[in-house]
Amino acid sequence: MTKTSSFKAPKGVPDYLPPTSAEFVAARDGLIRAARLAGYGHIELPVFEETALFARGVGESTDVVSKEMWTFTDRKGQSFTLRPEGTAGVMRAAIEHNLDRGGLPVKLCYAGPFFRYEQPQAGRYRQLQQVGVEAIGIDDPALDAEVIAIADAGFRTLGLTDFRLEITSLGDDTCRPQYRELLQDFLFKLPLDEETRRRAEINPLRVLDDKRPEVKEMVADAPLMIDHLSESAKAHFDQVLGYLDGIGVPYVVNPRMVRGLDYYTKTTFEFVHDGLGAQSGIGGGGRYDGLMAQLGGPELSGIGFGLGVDRTVLALQAEGKSAGSTATCEVYGVPMGETAKQHLVTLAARLRAAGIRTDLAYGGRGLKGAMKAADRSGARFALVLGDREVAEGVIALKDLRNGEQREVPLDQVVAQVAADLAE
Ligand code: HAM
Repeated sequence: MTKTSSFKAPKGVPDYLPPTSAEFVAARDGLIRAARLAGYGHIELPVFEETALFARGVGESTDVVSKEMWTFTDRKGQSFTLRPEGTAGVMRAAIEHNLDRGGLPVKLCYAGPFFRYEQPQAGRYRQLQQVGVEAIGIDDPALDAEVIAIADAGFRTLGLTDFRLEITSLGDDTCRPQYRELLQDFLFKLPLDEETRRRAEINPLRVLDDKRPEVKEMVADAPLMIDHLSESAKAHFDQVLGYLDGIGVPYVVNPRMVRGLDYYTKTTFEFVHDGLGAQSGIGGGGRYDGLMAQLGGPELSGIGFGLGVDRTVLALQAEGKSAGSTATCEVYGVPMGETAKQHLVTLAARLRAAGIRTDLAYGGRGLKGAMKAADRSGARFALVLGDREVAEGVIALKDLRNGEQREVPLDQVVAQVAADLAE
């Protein structure tokens, strides 16, 4: 009788399996490396926090909080939520541990899973993976440019090219309230349905993001924040663009950008990839100068981003590129007989100790099956050892790329393979 299992991963939650999981790891690590190069230290946070942290930090009017949270109560009735994003948790930790006392800016980076109860589709998951950075406590346009340049460099070092950076300014404390009123005056004159009207009252910006064609048409002439920036917000934005020009990061200003989270102020941006269909955002971020204080901490500014690792992998595939090798090893040992196996088990340990990724054919497989497994592993070399070779103190080293084979003395094989791999 064959055993069957009816267990499945939860809907919209991906498994990352070999060989393609190597692309996921390479994309994630490549994006983190870009942040490390700019002095960001790693922060590892809980995957769940008090529900109120996200409600207050991310904003009650957002879809993320009002519709997409994975919320549960613990055994004492306290409400917790699986983190839908990283910024609120980083702020909580920075406040709780007084990280600002160690000098500013506090520069942190993180990677891991986040949870949003969205309708799953290609590129949109209920468990998604992000790499993020947050730079807290210095309100300097050069820092905005640094954060954006890290994301741009991260994508480019992975080989991505068909993406664009969209950027805008959402204004500051002095110009935002006035603009909000201006936009509400405009919206309240429109024949909006009840729900949309309510949204216009809570967060009018969100109405500009309405996907329905009739609403889009109605708000086509709505006033835009970028035309009503305060002098200092405008100067900040112009300087950010100036720094980006200096670094050579291309961008397009998109004054109609609306982000899905409420904490943004001033510089706000999104990275958009054209090969992904509807879920085209491969990363996004911006300034959130009031967030820390809103969560009960000191009045400190902040800027950061979250890059979608899942969508980065899809974008690479859409461009016909791959990050990272899917080979599980570089060398594959094929023992013919028990004596040979004893030698190869020891040799494999020596190769690994020399930093060479090595696997073996286990279970007494025949030559044909073992060579097939060697090919499947993606290894560059097979090491084939039989009784005759053991007796002569040699081993057959086969280059699996061109089929060439030669015999190498057993006591020199580690150095020989290392040299061949380095070529
Ligand atoms: P976000 O724009 O909500 O920002 O998410 C960042 C990225 O995560 C998106 O651009 C997208 O690539 C990916 N992502 C979001 N939702 C999904 C999903 N359901 N499936 C697959 N990928 C997804 C934030 O989360 C902010 N915390 C970023 C930030 C940090 N802003 C300032 N600091």
